[in-house]
Amino acid sequence: MKPSVLVTRRIPQPGLDLLIGQCDLDVWDSDVPIPREVLLQRIADKDGLLCLLTDRIDDELLDAAPRLRVVSQVAVGVDNINVPACTRRGIPVGHTPGALTETTADLTWALLLAAARRLVEGVDYVRAGRWVTWDPNQFLGLDVYGATLGIVGFGRIGQAVARRAHGFNTRILYHSRQRKPDAEQALGASYVALDTLLAEADFVTLHVSLTPETYHLIGRDALRKMKGTAVLVNVARGGVVDPDALVEALRNGWIAYAALDVTEPEPLPADHPLLSLPNCIVVPHIGSASVATRTKMAIMAAENLLAGLAGQRLPHCVNPEVYSAATRSS
Ligand code: NAP
Ligand code: GLV
Repeated sequence: MKPSVLVTRRIPQPGLDLLIGQCDLDVWDSDVPIPREVLLQRIADKDGLLCLLTDRIDDELLDAAPRLRVVSQVAVGVDNINVPACTRRGIPVGHTPGALTETTADLTWALLLAAARRLVEGVDYVRAGRWVTWDPNQFLGLDVYGATLGIVGFGRIGQAVARRAHGFNTRILYHSRQRKPDAEQALGASYVALDTLLAEADFVTLHVSLTPETYHLIGRDALRKMKGTAVLVNVARGGVVDPDALVEALRNGWIAYAALDVTEPEPLPADHPLLSLPNCIVVPHIGSASVATRTKMAIMAAENLLAGLAGQRLPHCVNPEVYSAATRSS
């Protein structure tokens, strides 16, 4: 008998193609998330779950899935998954590190430059038919060349952002849990405390994983430490920035601009204040959204899933401790 697998969204076909024939597939064939009650019901008889960051994988779901042997997510961030709860049940969790690093770093720079040079304001102005002349005082922005870039979270994506900074001759500061001497040397980056980075950077980009420690890392106190001319770019997770504090900061000029790929909540309601501020750009969580990258992610997720179903070690496992019997409680 083939293993039974739930796929919680329409994913790029090459990923699904790997599963067709090998699994009994139940695909939530839609562009919107599977409703929670449907997810809980359909997972009941499944051996494998291929999920997205919009699905909450918690004790309730795992209790509803007595046969589940593997969870494979089409994303690198797994803050939507209770990983220790999976580990306790002996369930390996797969993700897609590396596949999206460069694409997400590209979007970070797209947002940084768009904010610095007020691109969205300019586009809106032209589209509204308001462009009457070249104006020496209009849409004056910030120079990126020669500025100080502050990277918070110096992992795969943070370092890829730093690599792109050299053409802009930027001074690179970074903050992470641990210092990274090799990367410092290779990328000409300097490790600093978070407060120093916030005080000195002209552009602050966020790339930390979302954990209890990083939840609202950028709140009122942090925003007050930043320069009045600074730009904040969040390409990590919405929860890393306190949205109420950000609105206050943008309204009161504590910082100049924000550019967000991710928000709290996600999606932002249409009447959210961040969407009416002229000095804030919001895009709909498209960091990894290139054809090639989303295809790679779907393939990687399918490969993780198939390995888990075959009882093999996942190629990209978030909780390798699951393979040590001592860490399982049942
Ligand atoms: P990664 O290589 O694991 O990097 C995460 C970095 O966060 C690490 O350098 C880690 O520091 C740092 N970090 C974690 N907790 C911290 C803390 N409390 N204080 C300071 N630094 C902390 O992961 P990645 O592949 O670069 O991805 C990073 C995140 O980006 C993902 O978790 C995901 O949420 C987000 N992401 C978003 C998109 C998008 O579409 N917008 C796309 C991909 C990823 P250490 O190395 O010192 O431990
Ligand atoms: C996207 O946000 C990811 O974590 O891959």
